[in-house]
Amino acid sequence: MPPARLAAVIAGVPVAALVLLWATGNAAAVPALLAALLVALWGCRLAVAWMGEQRALAAVLGRINAGAPSGAVPPSMGREVANELQLLADTARARAALVDRLLRAEESIVERLPDPLIVLGQDRAVLRANAAARAAFGADLAAVLRHPQLRAAIDRALAGGSGAAPQSADLRVPVPIPRELQAMVVALDSPLAGGTGVLAVLSDRSRERAVERMRADFVANASHELRTPLASLIGFIATLRGPAADDPPAQAKFLGIMAEQAERMNRLIDDLLSLSRIEITEHQPPSDQVDVRGVVERVLAGLQLSIAKRGVRLNWAPPAALPSVPGDADQLEQVAQNLLDNALKYGRQDGVVRVTLEAAEPGGRWPARPGLVFSVCDDGAGIPKQHLPRLTERFYRVDTGRSRAVGGTGLGLAIVKHIVNRHRGVLLMESEAGSGSTFSVWLPAA
Ligand SMILES: Nc1ncnc2c1ncn2[C@@H]1O[C@H](COP(=O)(O)OP(=O)(O)OP(=O)(O)O)[C@@H](O)[C@H]1O
Ligand SMILES: [Mg+2]
Repeated sequence: MPPARLAAVIAGVPVAALVLLWATGNAAAVPALLAALLVALWGCRLAVAWMGEQRALAAVLGRINAGAPSGAVPPSMGREVANELQLLADTARARAALVDRLLRAEESIVERLPDPLIVLGQDRAVLRANAAARAAFGADLAAVLRHPQLRAAIDRALAGGSGAAPQSADLRVPVPIPRELQAMVVALDSPLAGGTGVLAVLSDRSRERAVERMRADFVANASHELRTPLASLIGFIATLRGPAADDPPAQAKFLGIMAEQAERMNRLIDDLLSLSRIEITEHQPPSDQVDVRGVVERVLAGLQLSIAKRGVRLNWAPPAALPSVPGDADQLEQVAQNLLDNALKYGRQDGVVRVTLEAAEPGGRWPARPGLVFSVCDDGAGIPKQHLPRLTERFYRVDTGRSRAVGGTGLGLAIVKHIVNRHRGVLLMESEAGSGSTFSVWLPAA
């Protein structure tokens, strides 16, 4: 209010009363006029003082608003007002600090969430994408958000409003790399989204889906591997009961084949059981100390007959004293057995198999910690490069016919890989078609 109006409000009534008294002859002219003048002057002074205090109060409130201390309060306002203003300033500053902390906490939770999280406005514009979303999709985020399944889930979420259940969608995105994502989309009333927006969490499920497919493939493969010898057994039983019932030479021949097939089923079941036992213990590293040289020599002794049969020249220079390593002797025996078995089966007839065991040079191809390296190297036909990454998959064979013909189940290297994992070791497979193969296992020393 302008000071003149304020002065008129304060002094108007008494001045009017004095003028009325003078006009009705109830007061002498000079004293009445003097009194009216004094009252008017007093009103002006009060108005100026009042306006000054208002300006000072506005300045104090301005400082509080800006988060600064309240500063000096005019003494005329009194101690109580000054105290309250100080309190207001302290509370406002504490609240601002709390809001700031909460905002930063929320920001860092959203930012550090391991799954990609995206906030979209009502118009589906991206308002926020956390670090995981930026890292996962980068410039391809818009393309991912255009995926028909995801768009449909966003539409459903927006239509349902903020109280509705989350909408999910499974999508395969080809960019930036092919991935399988599970999207959970929830509508939210967020000031950030400027009204109702949506929150989309896109979790990468590629690994889980791959594991699911592997499990399904594993069951299918295992059944198939068992069914082949079983079908052959059923066939021979029918032949023995029927056409060969009175043919002892044929019976002897068929029984021989049946024994072989039964033996193959037995091996397969042994390998499957052994694989599942190793998988169960894979997370517990072995605690016994094993002399690996002794293990290798035991396996070599057991293979003398096969080595002789294949006409293979074995090149094995036993190392001088080597430290023992933490391990499971039976499992390490299985590793040596499977790798040597492969070298004999798939290596060259009358070829050379070189077996080495030595302390690993830390760094380079092996971990920087001390360890031992056991290698089996053959000079056979080798393995084309494209097969190498898949050799340790269950039932994976380069040449299925050849593997079956030599009694292979396709589980040997899968078993080796799991045992090496349990020992926290490293399995390295090197080969080139035509120039032999080398399989090396690094084991950490105690
Ligand atoms: N030294 C090698 N040289 C050439 N190919 C090899 C060699 N070792 C393994 N392979 C290839 O890798 C495949 C997988 O080997 P793996 O030991 O897992 O199974 P397998 O030998 O067929 O059967 P199993 O070991 O269970 O009796 C083999 O079928 C073979 O094709
Ligand atoms: Mg094998």
